[in-house]
Amino acid sequence: MKKLFISLLLSISLFKASADEGMWLPMLLGQQVYNDMVKRGLKLTKAQLYSINKSSLKDAILIFGGGCTGEIVSSQGLIFTNHHCGYGAIANASSVEHNYLRDGFYALNKEQEIKSSLTVQFLDKIVDVTKEVENAVKGLSWDERVKKLSEVYKTITDKVVDKENGLAGRIYSMFKGNQYIMYVYKTYRDIRLVGAPPESVGKFGGDTDNWEWPRHTGDFSVFRVYAAKTGKPADYSTDNVPLKPKHFLPVSIKGFKDGDYAMIYGYPGGTNRYETSFGISLKNEIENPSLVALRDMRLKYMYNEMIKDPAIKLKLASSYAGIANYWKFYDGETKQLKKFNTEAEKKKYEAAFTAWAKGKPEYENIFADYNTNYTAWTPYSKHRQYLNEGIMGSPVAAFAAQLAGIENAIIKKGSTEADIKKAADAANNNRKGFLEGEDKSSDEKILAAVCQYFYNDIDKSQHPIGFYENLKAAYGDLNEEATYKKWAKEVFSNTMIFDDAKWDAFIAKPDAAVLQADFAFAFASAFVKNYSTKYAPLYAAFVNKNNELGRAYMKGIMEMNPAAVKKMYPDANFSMRVSYGNVKSYNPRDAVFYDYVCTAKGILEKYKKDDYEFDAPTKQIEMLKNKDYGQYMDKRTKDLVVTFITTNDITGGNSGSPVIDANGNLIGLAFDGNYEALSHKIAFDKDLNRTICVDVRYVLWCIDKLGGASNLIKELKLVK
Ligand code: ARG
Repeated sequence: MKKLFISLLLSISLFKASADEGMWLPMLLGQQVYNDMVKRGLKLTKAQLYSINKSSLKDAILIFGGGCTGEIVSSQGLIFTNHHCGYGAIANASSVEHNYLRDGFYALNKEQEIKSSLTVQFLDKIVDVTKEVENAVKGLSWDERVKKLSEVYKTITDKVVDKENGLAGRIYSMFKGNQYIMYVYKTYRDIRLVGAPPESVGKFGGDTDNWEWPRHTGDFSVFRVYAAKTGKPADYSTDNVPLKPKHFLPVSIKGFKDGDYAMIYGYPGGTNRYETSFGISLKNEIENPSLVALRDMRLKYMYNEMIKDPAIKLKLASSYAGIANYWKFYDGETKQLKKFNTEAEKKKYEAAFTAWAKGKPEYENIFADYNTNYTAWTPYSKHRQYLNEGIMGSPVAAFAAQLAGIENAIIKKGSTEADIKKAADAANNNRKGFLEGEDKSSDEKILAAVCQYFYNDIDKSQHPIGFYENLKAAYGDLNEEATYKKWAKEVFSNTMIFDDAKWDAFIAKPDAAVLQADFAFAFASAFVKNYSTKYAPLYAAFVNKNNELGRAYMKGIMEMNPAAVKKMYPDANFSMRVSYGNVKSYNPRDAVFYDYVCTAKGILEKYKKDDYEFDAPTKQIEMLKNKDYGQYMDKRTKDLVVTFITTNDITGGNSGSPVIDANGNLIGLAFDGNYEALSHKIAFDKDLNRTICVDVRYVLWCIDKLGGASNLIKELKLVK
């Protein structure tokens, strides 16, 4: 009876075959999952979703810039992705005179398209390499296995490397190391910026509206992939031609209604749906609050400079957006994990698992071992966050830390003049990029603050030996903010990083004593060395043990409930996935109803002239007031639908992903998740989880009516 109860409990809670949860591998779609897609409204065959020999939907999907998703929308390699995915490239193409980030940009012909340093990758094929991997590590202890794995991966991927055709393999561990799959990608290196709306459209609502519904953001940008005339990937060249894709998505401007089928292809970066209660507790109590507090401070100092000067704004915008995005995410994540009682829920499953595991040596101690492992690491966890998000959050400190490469080359036994020169040249190169992006005014304040935060919040026994004692002797009371400010000022005036004469002399003749006496290096190096000698090994051991336990736990879960395995999907790991569900409204809280679309009416409601986040182009406001929507008007609302929500299961990395209707047409681009379900990396909530998408009709309206780039509309295959 007890046994039955346990397996029932597990099958209900862990395997909620709840309709919309699941990031499926499109190439390994089980019949059961496919049948469910059809039941939900899909009109395509399995081979239309994914096929190795014939062109299929997967051929229109790409990895954009190494961290986002994009899709091909024309026979000439035109790419749609999010504005926040193209953000860095748009900022790079901008200057104070030609401020494309602020004003938007459209190439009215191919000559006007702008070169970028981006790459895109198409999925060529996938191969299950579990047997090969397991054979190569058979009989090894966990530690030996971990050490050997990268070499095993390399042996396998080396076999598929084909430089000429841009092919290379990448192996993904699925189900926490219970399966290994190689994805072979084709990388294209000539990607050009074709269009972007003004930032006041592409990032309308800024960080206030980020991770929130209702939403009125036109989060899209347009690029094009070029190839050599042979169709092969090539470096940028004016001889290159637009890529003829294997498949491109038709664009539907027909509109949709609440409940309609929607699926999303793309590259979700990471989830941990089998996270333990221990992991959640550490996250909620230490990791997330530390990160949030440190980012809060950094963002405040950056913002204060950005609003003063458009040149600083351009410099810092991209890094600011990235920091702010996950500052809000991790704050919201903990709030939602607490709201959903996720830690307590996990504890229940874990108790049931442990009861099932009794008498099974492979599994019975898993949670006792987790406990030991977390207990050992927890005292140092905050320190790690304060190093990564604090000390390394000062750009000058992060750059100074890299100079350890030169120090190592100098002091390492047996290293040659050539080794030292190589390290110095690399640093010299990096310095150029660093200085281009550096804003000293905010950084000096950040540097002072991170030094003080570390002093106040990290256990004294973990401080780098001597650092704060010296600071006190030279600058005064460690409880006074002024002490840190005085010190930071000196760092900035003393360091060779900002002094060309000192720097050039050092690079010409690198000397360890000179480097060690540099204030910025001395600071960064004290904290990094302290961590890397004493705490990094503990962290590595902690992660290693967790991975070992995680693999066993996962295997146990599958063994315990074999019937549910078919409905299991591996955690997101930036391999291609498809998620299916519906367009759907929701109730975020008691008595509150959220509609499934946002319209232009809401832009007019939110609009605040000259506001940092809620300004909008004057021309847009006029056109919206005149209801000048053209063929992009939504028939039901008689308005312009800006965004909509679906029940799809996605996460960061999916940004830019196509939202596809039952017939394989593009209806929108996924760009965010909603606040009420920000716990989604760990627990998907079937009632509250929503994906926020920009409606493709709004994208086209912005390009065509607002931007005047009808040349791009002509390239598309419109479904009316
Ligand atoms: N939350 C979005 C995502 O991670 C990014 C939105 C960028 N916008 C912003 N205001 N930071 O996909």
